[in-house]
Amino acid sequence: MTSYNFDTLLLETDENGIAVLTVNRPDKLNALNNTVLDELEKAVKKIEKDEDIRAVVVTGAGEKAFVAGADIKELNTLNKKQGEKQSVRGQKVFFALENCSKPVIAVVNGYALGGGAELAMACHIRIAEENAVFGLPEVGLGLIPGYGGTQRLPQLVGKSKAMELILTGGQMKAEEALSTGLASQVVPQGAGVEKARELASKMLKNGPVALSKAIASVNTGFRVKGFSDEAELFGELCETEDFKEGTTAFLEKRKANFQGR
Ligand code: COA
Repeated sequence: MTSYNFDTLLLETDENGIAVLTVNRPDKLNALNNTVLDELEKAVKKIEKDEDIRAVVVTGAGEKAFVAGADIKELNTLNKKQGEKQSVRGQKVFFALENCSKPVIAVVNGYALGGGAELAMACHIRIAEENAVFGLPEVGLGLIPGYGGTQRLPQLVGKSKAMELILTGGQMKAEEALSTGLASQVVPQGAGVEKARELASKMLKNGPVALSKAIASVNTGFRVKGFSDEAELFGELCETEDFKEGTTAFLEKRKANFQGR
């Protein structure tokens, strides 16, 4: 078993070359602050370079959340320019994961909201534990998904269901995620990592070069141009009163009172 040291992540590789990458801020439901994003970027680089790592499982620490989104405290103060930059930054980290040459399986073990759902969607496959909850609640904060969610969700579930989820800011439980294609399997709570190891082991019986080319080839077919528009719109929203109200209301633990400007 080899491991790397991070402040907000755990990365441990077993004797079969399967690494488990755990987002580890359970007291904040593993919310993605900038340290997590920086460390995710470093972790993906290590995963690419380390020949002992052959497949990756991504999950969240604790029993409640996979990742409950981008850190709303950090978002709250962004202006237009910073907002667009933040969105591009998150997109870049998730692109690196999506284009990893080794199979990446998300084990969604609780809330996967906002940036958490976007992180799961950037992985090649999603296994949902029974308590998984997917959602893009950004409109409730006066925002839109900014780490690729508006682009990847329609690819995975179709435009109609994606619009429903994004515009209502609603949630999708594990069984619905399975039936819409967002998740490929549902397993009991606590059984996801084992199931992911099983799936990865099956993949690893195949040629590694073929696996990497298969990932690259599938990804090519799903490349879309909308990411830069998503970042620009995300930035624009950061200068609205609704965004200030939405994110402040979350931090003050109250309902938002949107004025539409
Ligand atoms: N950003 C920053 N902090 C977050 C967070 C986020 N996205 N999600 C959860 N947290 C923090 C909470 O503020 C709380 O911190 P505190 O103990 O210092 O007050 C802690 O994590 C536990 O969360 P809490 O809200 O008390 O748990 P809950 O079980 O009542 O609710 C959720 C769980 C997931 C429904 C709720 O935390 C939530 O709605 N999170 C935000 C989801 C979201 O909008 N994500 C998209 C962001 S773009």
